[in-house]
Amino acid sequence: MTDTLRNDLFLRALLREPTPRRPLWLMRQAGRYLPEYRATRARAGNFLNLCTNPELACEVTLQPIDRYGFDAAILFSDILTVPHAMKLGLEFEAGEGPRFERPVRTPRDIDALPVPDPHIDLKYVVDAVALIRRELRGRVPLIGFAGSPWTVGTYMVEGGGSKSFAHIKRMMYEAPAELHRLLDVVTRATVLYLNAQIAAGAQAVMLFDTWGGILTPAQYEEFSLRPMAQVVAALTREADGRRVPSIVFTKGGGAWLERIAAIGCDAVGVDWSTDLATARRAVGGRVALQGNLDPAALYAPPDRLRAETLRVLDSYGPGPGHVFNLGHGITPDVDPERVAVLVETVRNYVPG
Ligand code: CP3
Repeated sequence: MTDTLRNDLFLRALLREPTPRRPLWLMRQAGRYLPEYRATRARAGNFLNLCTNPELACEVTLQPIDRYGFDAAILFSDILTVPHAMKLGLEFEAGEGPRFERPVRTPRDIDALPVPDPHIDLKYVVDAVALIRRELRGRVPLIGFAGSPWTVGTYMVEGGGSKSFAHIKRMMYEAPAELHRLLDVVTRATVLYLNAQIAAGAQAVMLFDTWGGILTPAQYEEFSLRPMAQVVAALTREADGRRVPSIVFTKGGGAWLERIAAIGCDAVGVDWSTDLATARRAVGGRVALQGNLDPAALYAPPDRLRAETLRVLDSYGPGPGHVFNLGHGITPDVDPERVAVLVETVRNYVPG
């Protein structure tokens, strides 16, 4: 890729290099809170059509960059594309969340799982990455992503979202070796998938471990962290002569930040339940931190939102290594004007 990156603040912060200001992007920055997103999704018909059409995925990826000038773009896709490519029959029903027609429950279900070839079964994602990278023309770096094997596994076994996670927890206690076999297939698929995104132009990658926080500390180590460590260890380290940093985010993982920082990733995502000063002490300068404004702060009146945003910026303290973000994805009912207030506050921040 021959484009010159005009804004590399995000990549520099991930490597704990000094930057003139704190870079920012928001998880789920392309999404339903934006009227232009809803318009494109209406043209696509539904969410899956949007994900599987590289031109439309590119269009919605760029929308928040055009509107707010975030310091990074994130591929528009979903963590469930991998099990979709394993032919589990993914459906997104409006207002219902994801659902798999054929959940994975038995040893035979696990035996039948293929490791998808990203260049065939997930070609639409690889094509979207290449197109987005081209259309960005070096404005900001492009983030590729995948779900953590554990989090993707929860959807595969539960057959959709869950409150109790009864099926996968039962499997974890009754047949841990089977669960490991399942996680191993997902781990191998994830490595191929992320490395294909990097080869197509992703300049950083992020693992979303949305459900690691439902585990005990020992289970987290065994079923969530270890597979993520395997993924991170197998990632392509460099592209175009530049390091491709990796970010690992476990929602609810505040007590385990030190252990996450030790797996070889470059940055750790922090949800809103841990203060960044505490997080920073825990990781001891080994990694950069990304986060961690409470997404609900975007419901606050502008002055309150500014104060909450400054609190996050101040809590990190001086020195490099912070990428401003929310502590989880932006919610669909947020007023886009509030996001503008947040962006302006971060952009004008001068450490006190
Ligand atoms: O951050 C971004 O802007 C990139 C796009 C992105 C989406 N999903 C688009 C999406 C990313 C990074 C994801 C990751 C994802 N998907 C996660 C991990 C992060 C997290 O939020 O915890 C998870 C658990 C999923 C699975 C998933 N996808 C669920 C549970 C749902 C339904 C809930 C919901 O918000 O509707 C989705 C759908 C989804 N993925 C939407 C978007 C924009 C909404 C679909 C729509 O337009 O109706």
